[in-house]
Amino acid sequence: MTIDTIAVIGTGTMGRGIVETAASHGLAVHAAEIDTVQRERAQAAIRKSVEKGIARGKLKANDADEVLGRVRWHADVVEAAVEGQYVVEAIAEDEAAKLELFRRLDGACPPETILASNTSSISITKLAAATGRAERVVGMHFFNPVPIMQPVEIVRGLATSDETVEQTRQLARRMGKEPFTVTDTPGFVVNRVLMPLINEAAFALQEGVADAKTIDSLMKLGCNHPMGPLELADFIGLDVCLSILRVLHGELGDPKFRPCPLLSRMVDAGRLGRKSGRGFHDYNENG
Ligand code: CAA
Repeated sequence: MTIDTIAVIGTGTMGRGIVETAASHGLAVHAAEIDTVQRERAQAAIRKSVEKGIARGKLKANDADEVLGRVRWHADVVEAAVEGQYVVEAIAEDEAAKLELFRRLDGACPPETILASNTSSISITKLAAATGRAERVVGMHFFNPVPIMQPVEIVRGLATSDETVEQTRQLARRMGKEPFTVTDTPGFVVNRVLMPLINEAAFALQEGVADAKTIDSLMKLGCNHPMGPLELADFIGLDVCLSILRVLHGELGDPKFRPCPLLSRMVDAGRLGRKSGRGFHDYNENG
């Protein structure tokens, strides 16, 4: 089956990137966002990013309206989900909320619809177990910024069928991405490797090895990374990094994943990185 129409549930940073990428690759998209303010923000952000993509010659479209015309917005999750041949969930990284949503989607969508989650750290097998279609539940983990980053981790839960994995790989390719299939283990591959790097940079800062700017400059220039680890943590969101580290630490039980206390304190203080204007570095409206 060729997938031409998808539903995306949740349009925070990742969800809106998925909506934009799917629409700019010719798919029809039903986007669900229950929060009016968030929905308007997502619409404006997608327009701005599509205009940038066109101006840079990355998108084949005459104008932003051509891409945005492929997106229908819904305030109701089920109303959007039932319109999609394939559903991608991208709500906040809250296990209870995701389990509840998967139960609802399972009850509302036709049995053949695949339910995918963009979770960065919650078990796909656990989400699948909340449904009556575990073989058609899969992880589709994109990277931020979605329109630019190439890979997608396709996460195979314990019960995910080969057909579901293959359909998901095809969908990722259709969206211009390169799929990599991984097993359902905490943090999958990228976050399992990336989060200890970010955490260690926070420990280095906490211990006074160097200031944040020096740590980032050294890692950028010394390792040829596009962003230093603290700048990248601000970009991802310090709350998101902390929550992934907690999952890695809790589930793998290895002390090497223990979150740096400085990272926890910063989240306690509301210093969440770019989105709050302050993290390891300070940000203005333009980032
Ligand atoms: N649409 C399509 N293409 C676009 C675009 C858009 N809206 N905006 C920019 N581009 C293209 C540009 O044309 C450019 O392409 P070329 O290199 O071919 O010229 C490229 O994207 C880079 O664009 P910019 O020059 O504007 O951006 P930059 O060079 O300043 O890089 C960055 C910005 C891509 C974010 C870079 O700093 C980077 O790669 N940072 C690291 C990001 C990262 O590691 N992300 C993963 C985080 S982990 C995660 O997401 C998972 C999780 O679960 C936490």
